[in-house]
Amino acid sequence: MKKVTVKDLTLEEKVSLLTGKDIWRLHTFSGKLPEVFVADGPHGLRMVSRENAGNWGGEVYKTTAMPNVVNVANTWNPACAYETGKVIADECIEHDADVLLAPGVNIKRSPLCGRNFEYFSEDPYLAGVMGVEYVKGVQDKGVGTSLKHYALNNSENDRSSMTAEADERTMREIYLRPFELILQETKPTTVMCSYNKVNGIHTSENRYLLKDILRDIFGFDGIVISDWGACHNRWKSVKAALDLCMPVKEDADAQVMTALKNGWISEADVDYCVENLLNFIYRIQDMKPLRKLEFTEEQRLEKATAIATESMVLLQNENSALPLKKIPTLLLGRMAEFPAACGGGSSEVSSCHTHPHLKDLLAEKLGVEVTFRSATEPHFNGLTAARECMDLAARFDQVVVVVGEDTSLVCEGMNRTDIKLHPKHLQLIDNVTRVCDNVIVVIEAGSAVDTSEFQDKVNAILYAGYAGDAVNYALSDLLTGAATPSGKLSETFPYEKDDFCPDINFTPCGVDRYVEGIFVGYRGADAMDADVLYPFGHGLSYVNFRYENLQAEKKGETDYVISYDIYNEGDMDAAEVSQVYVGQAAARVARPVKELKAFSKDVIPARGKKHVSVTLDKSAFAYYNVCLKDWHVENGAFTVYVGASSRDIRLKKKLIVALPDETQFT
Ligand code: BGC
Repeated sequence: MKKVTVKDLTLEEKVSLLTGKDIWRLHTFSGKLPEVFVADGPHGLRMVSRENAGNWGGEVYKTTAMPNVVNVANTWNPACAYETGKVIADECIEHDADVLLAPGVNIKRSPLCGRNFEYFSEDPYLAGVMGVEYVKGVQDKGVGTSLKHYALNNSENDRSSMTAEADERTMREIYLRPFELILQETKPTTVMCSYNKVNGIHTSENRYLLKDILRDIFGFDGIVISDWGACHNRWKSVKAALDLCMPVKEDADAQVMTALKNGWISEADVDYCVENLLNFIYRIQDMKPLRKLEFTEEQRLEKATAIATESMVLLQNENSALPLKKIPTLLLGRMAEFPAACGGGSSEVSSCHTHPHLKDLLAEKLGVEVTFRSATEPHFNGLTAARECMDLAARFDQVVVVVGEDTSLVCEGMNRTDIKLHPKHLQLIDNVTRVCDNVIVVIEAGSAVDTSEFQDKVNAILYAGYAGDAVNYALSDLLTGAATPSGKLSETFPYEKDDFCPDINFTPCGVDRYVEGIFVGYRGADAMDADVLYPFGHGLSYVNFRYENLQAEKKGETDYVISYDIYNEGDMDAAEVSQVYVGQAAARVARPVKELKAFSKDVIPARGKKHVSVTLDKSAFAYYNVCLKDWHVENGAFTVYVGASSRDIRLKKKLIVALPDETQFT
């Protein structure tokens, strides 16, 4: 088929091409252009058949629910992000989807955001590193991606009308930074603009964001598409360089034609987007030879299980309650049978796998009897039922309680109202701890949860996130010690929902003011020297690790190789995520105490050691200077912190940066 150029299309065709043909496809003009079909992610393919592409809500294919993005981030293993991308791309290939609408790389500003489970982290560097690998995993298999939701979509309530109000430095250092990092390393085929306004202008009509920053500074060369229904007046979004409005919008063409007639936009503005669209359509065709089916359904589930196992975070483990002892065990909580595998909304996967009961997997792996009671069913409210549960629990020396939040509480389009667990779940834990002193709590949830009401009464807490179809396989391996926990938190667990960010459910006049600026998550906690429930980067193992011998080898003016040794003091092989933070104490602008600049996940043999090395470059020392409109390194003393979490710093070293005078300001 001859490649169509802008000149080959009539004005009407060009204007039509600017908006989707239906819910999931671009126009082809009766075969003149190859078809492009897009479908949802990010933790499994959610796609309707071609016959249903014109209808909302058609039945979706059954696919594998991979560990949700929150879990992928909690692995701190970039290879897990790459593998996730690969598996989902494999499903795209099977069902002939051209672009996966993923990954979401928004910053977790508040633990209340209803879509945190779809996002990587509160930290832009971690989100960027994981996002890079996810995009590569998908695109290396010939399927396109969509980096979303650009930008500042950090709250779900009133998402189409509210405005996120943030200053330039905050945007560049925190909220836009994952996009910038991913665009430095990869070429995603599309970027999806968000629903909200940024500083008073809808992102779909925000030329500063879509053109000046995304294309001219970050070098994006794919197409910008709107989130579904985020495009309001099509001509205004053409002016802002939004290439594709999705999905079909009946009045879009007329809006553009009227604007052309009135001179509000020119044909060159239309051609700019059409040119981008044609390049994109043919790029998708050029990627097709890479598409090769690689995995069976079973292999996809095996990969999901490996990632899920790396993703769960052991928050506490008093008295070495975990791994479980091989003694009769009581398992409580409906979620042990019907796990919360995914958050709700456009990312929710219709699974092709059945979920085995955690009771059966535990019984098999422990080789003991496991007694199960749902205990969180609605009818379990009554006093008699609670009394029965306590009587039962009193007979066990080991009780596992599975609690959490399902899609009725965590779903796209709405924020959480609290970070506390449902009162019924809290009551269950409380009842059980009154009669048994060895209680282990498993939490299935998509973001930070307040455990303060029960953490002193239970021995262990394992945060499972939303681990997808593999949830119970991974849980049973970790609980029984067949695997050792190695996940770490990619977000701070605060004591209160609004400790480090104003309550996003209260936005007077729809203006969400980012008053905390760059001090998001651990940056805020450090600045206030405030206590947190569980810090960013926290996660325990069944072994202890010792850190020693920090070295910084200078390779250039701002280039260093940072190396240290980690000793595994336990009797089993285990993986440790070590984190390297950098801070500048005395600077001319406000700076976080420290910021994550490198990390490494390493398997360390039992009683063995690993020499770990990571590199730092200019970006480890720079901040965004609003006067220079650029990143800037201010000479002086920096501290490199190496830790097992942001609050468990094991080693420190001072570095002096002395760039030439001409780069400095007095
Ligand atoms: C979501 C996007 C999604 C799109 C298509 C929107 O509501 O915000 O993330 O890709 O729908 O389903």
